[in-house]
Amino acid sequence: MSKDKVQIFDTTLRDGEQVPGCKLDTTQKLVIAERLDNLGVDIIEAGFPISSPGDFGSVNEIAKLVKNATVCGLTRAVKKDIEVAAEALKHAKKPRIHTGIGTSDSHIKFKFNSNRDAIIERAVEAVKYAKTFVEDVEFYAEDAGRTDNDFLARVCEEVVKAGATVLNIPDTTGYCLPEEYGAKMKYLKENVKGIHKATLSCHCHNDLGLATANSIAGVINGARQIECTINGIGERAGNTSLEEVVMILRQHPSLNLYTNVNSKLLYDTSQMVSQKMGMPVQPNKAIVGSNAFAHSSGIHQDGVIKNRETYEIMDPEDVGVNESSIVLTARSGRAALAYRAKNIGYELTKLQLDIVYTEFLEFADQKKEILDEDIHQIIEASGIKIES
Ligand code: KIV
Ligand code: ZN
Repeated sequence: MSKDKVQIFDTTLRDGEQVPGCKLDTTQKLVIAERLDNLGVDIIEAGFPISSPGDFGSVNEIAKLVKNATVCGLTRAVKKDIEVAAEALKHAKKPRIHTGIGTSDSHIKFKFNSNRDAIIERAVEAVKYAKTFVEDVEFYAEDAGRTDNDFLARVCEEVVKAGATVLNIPDTTGYCLPEEYGAKMKYLKENVKGIHKATLSCHCHNDLGLATANSIAGVINGARQIECTINGIGERAGNTSLEEVVMILRQHPSLNLYTNVNSKLLYDTSQMVSQKMGMPVQPNKAIVGSNAFAHSSGIHQDGVIKNRETYEIMDPEDVGVNESSIVLTARSGRAALAYRAKNIGYELTKLQLDIVYTEFLEFADQKKEILDEDIHQIIEASGIKIES
């Protein structure tokens, strides 16, 4: 069975950059955009051009720089926003305007003091207007996660008729459960007339820690684009993490889905974005955290030393990490100590290992982690003569 491609829409520079304290200047954004292009993402959302002259300038420069990916700019369903985005994107090889409006009852009532029919009218007008500037127009139904499926299908049908090429179904508040979000995609696939003319897109937030699970449920149910950010950065608890969805699709071939992303560049890209944004990656972050391939308990270490597959479901090299690490702590066993000692040149006999291990445990009870220089010290202090 042939595999279907899932487009990766990176919004690190737009939704990701909305994080307080993560503001980037144009030079930093250009470095990140170039890296994203090399990484193999399909679409780079470069910013929200009307939001400030700085953002306009960044989108404009990114549009000139990017060679392969589509470059996208966000707008509200407002004519002026669309004109400014079109201007910012005018040098892009492949420009996309991303326009939209809130569709949930709460957005319609509290944000717009409006009604459903008027919202559809504005959505259609925005898409038609954006189409006068670019061919590729993505429509977002903000808060689609809390919009009832019948109305959402009506909105989608009308904007596809108006020419939308992509339908973004954001779970803006990160509220949906995976089954619910997946069912929403399925409903749209089955009930929106003309849906074959557009690509359904997942845009999930992580307020309940479900952004990745929801995006995967979305593509299992027919979506073919995932909107995500490096390290999952984004408003509040963040967005779907790019590295997670890329590796899930790669590690589960039975889904018959693939992306264009070169997974070997994931770790370096994560580090680069973290440094530029001054936003540390949590150690236990899936795929790119410093502990993602570190084994510290004796049972796990023993297994991994015998065969990596016992406790690792992917090869660290596939995400750009040289090798997994065996971290020595007071929870480590003899196998891990022997392994690490061997790596720094000590071949211990069983008897020698017993002696050194006793010393090691005393040392380890006093320290969070035992480093190579500690191993040297422990072996010297043990007084035994070891080939090194
Ligand atoms: O979360 C959201 O709804 C968004 C839209 C503006 C696409 O970021
Ligand atoms: Zn968002």
